Amino acid sequence: MSAPLLLVNDLKKHFPVRGGLFSRKSSWVYAVDGVSFEVERGETLSLVGESGCGKSTVGRAILRLFDITAGQVVLDGQRIDDLSPEGLRGMRRRVQVVFQDPFSSLNPRMRVRDILAEPIRNFGLAKSSAEVETRVAALMDTVRLPRDALNRRPHEFSGGQRQRICIARALAAEPELIVCDEAVSALDVSVKAQIVNLLQDLQQEFGLALLFISHDLAIVEHMTHRVAVMYLGKIVEMAPRQQIFTAPKHPYTKALLSAVPVPEPGAARHPIISHTLSICVRSLPNGGAGTSVDRKRPVGGVSSQSAAGTAGPAR
Ligand SMILES: Nc1ncnc2c1ncn2[C@@H]1O[C@H](COP(=O)(O)OP(=O)(O)O)[C@@H](O)[C@H]1O
Ligand SMILES: [Mg+2]
Repeated sequence: MSAPLLLVNDLKKHFPVRGGLFSRKSSWVYAVDGVSFEVERGETLSLVGESGCGKSTVGRAILRLFDITAGQVVLDGQRIDDLSPEGLRGMRRRVQVVFQDPFSSLNPRMRVRDILAEPIRNFGLAKSSAEVETRVAALMDTVRLPRDALNRRPHEFSGGQRQRICIARALAAEPELIVCDEAVSALDVSVKAQIVNLLQDLQQEFGLALLFISHDLAIVEHMTHRVAVMYLGKIVEMAPRQQIFTAPKHPYTKALLSAVPVPEPGAARHPIISHTLSICVRSLPNGGAGTSVDRKRPVGGVSSQSAAGTAGPAR
């Protein structure tokens, strides 16, 4: 059997929190505390959970944006968590990212043509300038943007179009895995659906694997193969989509699902968040002791739709 495309084994990332006199280390944030999962080629794994539970930290660890505290990240059989800067180059091409906010991830001074040409040149994926041009034009077709927009700059596009540019830039590197960190969370509902559909089409076309990070279970319901539910830096449940949405096992998954809005008017789900979170904290190895002292509490509700007023953060 071949190795999975991505293997994350007992990943930990603890951030020091500095405070007091001379900004000494006063405590730690256990942002990710023993997370393990695999992503197969061509698969979508969704990482869901409330804000602050450690999803982006997992994504950043895979992208090697910082050194991890413990554990292993293995890409196609090769450990990447301890690679040297030279070794990281190849890995950077194979794993790309699309962030939530295209405005801050696209250079406002660059034209789309140059934004898309940059990774092609940097990774030596074209032999001549003419080939770069051809590839850039083809990328615009791939993400369904008009070719005549190549000379425009990011601020001349709508939010959804800018996210298409980010996707095109990720594809320019010919990756095998794209980490989508809240990639559609800031978009309007209809645009959200368009971008999700585009990602699904691209996955089919290029055999891409997606690690789809979202605080909102509703978004991933129709597009993911498997779901990993994170809570306080750990994965509490991981299962195929069907099972998560029809027969969730963990109380926290049930709580997240109860916060997903129901389309029919009047058929509201009953939020079960407050009670469930206290069960979750009690079921942590040390009964949740220390979580409010050593670890910053997750902020906000279970999702943007969580029932306001029914639940404060678990204490
Ligand atoms: N660079 C950092 N320094 C200190 N704490 C951090 C840092 N990055 C993230 N954190 C903390 O780690 C926890 C998890 O953050 P994050 O992974 O961004 O959560 P999510 O993406 O699920 O909202 C949060 O409590 C956050 O405040
Ligand atoms: Mg995040």
